[in-house]
Amino acid sequence: MNELESARKTINEIDKEAARLFEARMEAVKIIAEYKKENRLSIEDLKREEELIAKNSSLITSDELRPYYMQFLRETIGISKDLQREICVRSENSLTVKTSSGNYDIIIERGAIDYADKYLKLDRKVLIVTDSGVPEEYSQRIASKCKAPFIVTLENGEASKNLKNFELLLSKLVEYGFTRTDCITAVGGGVVGDMSGFVASVYMRGIDFYNIPTTLLSQVDSSIGGKTAIDFMGIKNNVGAFYPPKKVIIDLETLKTLPERQISNGLAEALKMALSHDAELFELFEQGNVNENIDIIIKRSLLIKKAVVESDEHESGLRRVLNFGHTLAHAIESVNEMKNLYHGEAVALGMIPMCEEKVRVRLLKVLKRLGLPCEITAVDAESIINACKNDKKLQGDEITLVYVPTVGSFEFLKIPFSEYENMLREII
Ligand SMILES: NC(=O)c1ccc[n+]([C@@H]2O[C@H](COP(=O)([O-])OP(=O)(O)OC[C@H]3O[C@@H](n4cnc5c(N)ncnc54)[C@H](O)[C@@H]3O)[C@@H](O)[C@H]2O)c1
Repeated sequence: MNELESARKTINEIDKEAARLFEARMEAVKIIAEYKKENRLSIEDLKREEELIAKNSSLITSDELRPYYMQFLRETIGISKDLQREICVRSENSLTVKTSSGNYDIIIERGAIDYADKYLKLDRKVLIVTDSGVPEEYSQRIASKCKAPFIVTLENGEASKNLKNFELLLSKLVEYGFTRTDCITAVGGGVVGDMSGFVASVYMRGIDFYNIPTTLLSQVDSSIGGKTAIDFMGIKNNVGAFYPPKKVIIDLETLKTLPERQISNGLAEALKMALSHDAELFELFEQGNVNENIDIIIKRSLLIKKAVVESDEHESGLRRVLNFGHTLAHAIESVNEMKNLYHGEAVALGMIPMCEEKVRVRLLKVLKRLGLPCEITAVDAESIINACKNDKKLQGDEITLVYVPTVGSFEFLKIPFSEYENMLREII
C-alpha cells in the first residue's frame, strides 16, 4: 500500500469513528435541550463555550493545527445549538405522550399537513383513510407528500365504524401489498381515527399508525390516549385495542371547514377537561373569545388528557375522570327522542347534574355561550333514568360518578343509584 492509500484508509477509519462519536454527542445534546426546555434555560451560554474551546483546544499539541481545531469546535457547538433550538421551538408546538410501548409526539401547527413529510415517514406505502364528509383536499395534500399513497374514503358517520369497513381496510392492505414497514394514516375525525388505529394494531401484529385529526373533538380528545375501536353488534367501541399512534399532527387550518355545530361539539369535551382540571382554562371559556383562543384551548385540553392517560394508560383508575358527564350522556344518546344530539352535546347536558350548585350556574352560562344545549327537553325523565341504570359504572345498587365541587377540581362519588336519581330529577 502506498503512502496515499494508507492516508486515505486512515481518514476513512477516523471518519467512521467520528460518525459514531457525532451521533453519541448529539444524543447527549438532545438530553440537554430537553432539560433546558423544561427548566426554561437559555440555549446561549457564551462564557461556557469560550471556556470549553480554550480547554479542549489545549489538548492539540501542534500549534499549526490548534486554530483549525478551535474552528472545528466552534462549528460543532453551532450545530449543537441548532439542534437545541429545533427541539425547543418544536416543543412549543408539540407535546410528547409517554406510553409503555414508546412515546409519541403531537404536533400542533397551522398548515402542517402541507409539510407532513417533515414529521412523518412517508417514503413508503401509506394507506390514507378518510371519510366522505372530510374535504377531499386534505387527504390529497397528504398523499402528495407520500411516495406510494393509497386513499380509501369511507362513508361518513358513526355507522362506518363497523366490522365490514375493518375488513375492507385490511383487504386493501393485503391487495396493495403492505408490509410491516408500511403505515396507515387517518385523515378525519374520531370515526376514521378509531377505525384506522384499530386496523393498524392488528395488521401483521401492528404497523405504524399516524393520526391527522380534523374535527375539534378528535383534536382535543380522541387522537390522544391510544384507544382504538369499532362498534360491534350495536355496541359502541366494544371491540378495539390500546394502540398508540406513532405521531399525531393537528393542523388548526382544517377547522376552517368544520361546521359551527361540530366546533361546539368538540368544545364540550374541552370544557369537560377545563371544568374538572383547569380553572384558568374554564375562565377563558367564560370571558375570552373562544375562536381566537382555539390553539390554547386545544393545547391545554391535550395537556390535561396527557397527564391523565400517562398516569393510567389502560383505564384502571384515574382515567375514569374523563367520563365526567358521560353516564347521563350515554343514557341521553340511547333514548330515541334525543338521538339527533351529537356526543359532545350529550356530554354538555351530562355535566349539569354533576357539579356543585355555584359551579353549575357558571357552567350553564358557558354552555349557552358556546351554543351547547343547557336543558333536556321533549323527553320524559323516566326513560332517561332507566337508561342510566344500564351504565357500566353501576355495581349492585351503587354507581361511581365524577363530581366537580369547585371549578378545576373533581372527586369520584360512589353513591346509591337512588341518590343519583334525585340529582337527575333536579334537572330533568
Ligand atoms: N379514541 C378515543 O379516545 C375517543 C374519544 C372520544 C371519541 N371517540 C370516538 O370519536 C368518534 C367521534 O368523533 P368526531 O366527533 O370527530 O366525529 P366524526 O369522525 O364522525 O366527524 C364528524 C363529521 O365531521 C366531518 N369532518 C371531519 N373533519 C372535517 C373538516 N375538517 N371539515 C369538515 N367536515 C369534517 C366528518 O366527515 C363527519 O361527518 C366516535 O366514534 C367516538 O366513539 C374516540
